[in-house]
Amino acid sequence: MPLPLPCGQRTSTTEGHPVLNPSAAQPIEPPDESIVFGTGKGGVGKSTVAAHHAAASAEAGHRTLLICVTGQDDDDLGIKRYDRGTRPEGPSVIDGQGLYDAIHDRTPLRPIREVRPNLDVMPGGEMVGEIDGLLMLRTLKEGAGVVLSLAQALAPIAPLYDRVVFDSAPEKDSLEQLVLAAAKYLMVPTRSDESSVRGMERISKNFKLVKTQVNPHLQMAGAFLYGSNGTATLMHASVFEDIRATLGAGTSILETIVGYREVPARNARKKGLMFGEYAELLPTSATKHDVKAGRATSADVVPDTILSLAKEMRALNQEIFDHTRRSA
Ligand SMILES: Nc1ncnc2c1ncn2[C@@H]1O[C@H](COP(=O)(O)OP(=O)(O)O)[C@@H](O)[C@H]1O
Ligand SMILES: [Mg+2]
Repeated sequence: MPLPLPCGQRTSTTEGHPVLNPSAAQPIEPPDESIVFGTGKGGVGKSTVAAHHAAASAEAGHRTLLICVTGQDDDDLGIKRYDRGTRPEGPSVIDGQGLYDAIHDRTPLRPIREVRPNLDVMPGGEMVGEIDGLLMLRTLKEGAGVVLSLAQALAPIAPLYDRVVFDSAPEKDSLEQLVLAAAKYLMVPTRSDESSVRGMERISKNFKLVKTQVNPHLQMAGAFLYGSNGTATLMHASVFEDIRATLGAGTSILETIVGYREVPARNARKKGLMFGEYAELLPTSATKHDVKAGRATSADVVPDTILSLAKEMRALNQEIFDHTRRSA
């Protein structure tokens, strides 16, 4: 159930104070460099692009925080499967537990540190689904300001970072609103199919609600087509029309289109590696011949299509950085 958002309801930041106060009257300004990858449809590349964008930011030397507000823990960075990063002391933050606890206890986020140099992460997972029920109960008692719960949990640690990247969940309006209330930019990925285009209608509705009622700083940074054949230009033109019809005629559409490359994308995620990291394994890859001879398994073969995938993802991230810099 979406949160009702009465006009003008605001809450305070909690600078220097571990307990958040949802009833005070100060608005929360989102970090300058904070971006949500969101649309109301699963399987369009939100989590993949959010993880790669955060990793690219960190690699460029910016202190970056990735917050995964999604019930599905894709673990693109290999945090759970390969135990990457330094876990904070105290209760586990894995499987969305850390996000749930911070909102439930009204305490600052406790990320996993240095999952890669300069990159900290609040992982998503099963417990994120429970946040919806918690928000609903709280809305009855405390009003619509609870939509700022994540912004409040982020505010005390936000000064530690140059950039904050949010992955978002398509499954619930309340979770979509929660990330939109905490960020400055929304970037909308889409696939070319009808239902992905329809998925943009929901994020568009939540964008307008949150912007008019709790987070006036929120801006539509643009949209991009993900996982599509670069030569299908006529079809792309028709999808771009649909995007503008749904998100607004002035919506910027990025030029880079990352192709559909199922094998390297799937393998990289399984290994908890970014596309660029996986591409670095290519020179030492096993061959099909090695597999036939029983010296290696198919999991040891790095497909050479990873090179194009890594290159396109790098180009996409560069375009997103340039684009948000221009919007600012
Ligand atoms: N360029 C790509 N080509 C093909 N499959 C991809 C590509 N990028 C990601 N995938 C795969 O597509 C699926 C959906 O991607 P994901 O990022 O999880 O989408 P969302 O977060 O929107 O649900 C995942 O299995 C992912 O590994
Ligand atoms: Mg996802």
